Amino acid sequence: MNVSNANELPIGVFDSGVGGLTVLKALRDVLPHEDLIYLGDTARLPYGTKSPASISRYACQATQQLQQRGIKLLVVACNTASAVALEALRGQMEPLPVIGVIEPGATAAVAARPGGTHLVLATEATVSLEAYRRAIHAKDRQATVIELACEMLVSLAEEGWSDGPIAELIVRRYLAELDGQSARPDSVILGCTHFPLLREVIESAFDDGVAIVDSASTTAAAACDMLASMSLGSRRSGGGSLKLLATDGATRFARVGGQFLGHDLSANDITIVDL
Ligand code: DGL
Repeated sequence: MNVSNANELPIGVFDSGVGGLTVLKALRDVLPHEDLIYLGDTARLPYGTKSPASISRYACQATQQLQQRGIKLLVVACNTASAVALEALRGQMEPLPVIGVIEPGATAAVAARPGGTHLVLATEATVSLEAYRRAIHAKDRQATVIELACEMLVSLAEEGWSDGPIAELIVRRYLAELDGQSARPDSVILGCTHFPLLREVIESAFDDGVAIVDSASTTAAAACDMLASMSLGSRRSGGGSLKLLATDGATRFARVGGQFLGHDLSANDITIVDL
């Protein structure tokens, strides 16, 4: 791929499911002229409970699907894939750029609460790789990082059960595992792109004044900077298009994806692909 003539290609975005639509939404806000193509690997969701080898293979295949369609920038809108496979995906996309969500999330948390205690809610894979701990400590040696795997919150988000007593009980059940360790974190990092849908329930489980950090807007800002620094931005003036791909379940994707994007989707808006 020649970088110099890639300006009018879309930005490719992928996640294991609909969670990455939180990042896609932020990208649309800051880059309204750009075409976007989103892939949700719904057939193989969740990624967070799989082995690094499987997650890496899935992420490379999802990237290949987007590359075949032609993209100029890959946004890995999945913390799990970012934690496991970012370097492999960078190699695969070379010379075109790749942005993950962990680095922007860590930057936002450190900026919000320098030297603070950060509680990271994420998938099992992201927690077991200590991805946020390493990213935060690289920026702030004084910070304290506590990581908690909350895999069931992915299912709640995919089911569209993002509020009410069931979601509240499950969030509190996970937090009880901390055993008082982080009764008062300075920030709570939504370290899975599915979790912003549960933001209100998560926020209500903490004292006022706790910063809730979501990497969507910082990732979108990083994408904006990257396109500018590589002179890869679209030169078109009209609004960009959006193409949605999934590996299974167009009706379910449309139902839940609409909640993430904040507008109705129909199954006809989703193209099913095989990786
Ligand atoms: N949304 C993904 C993340 O940010 C993964 C959820 C999953 O598939 O387990 O980690």
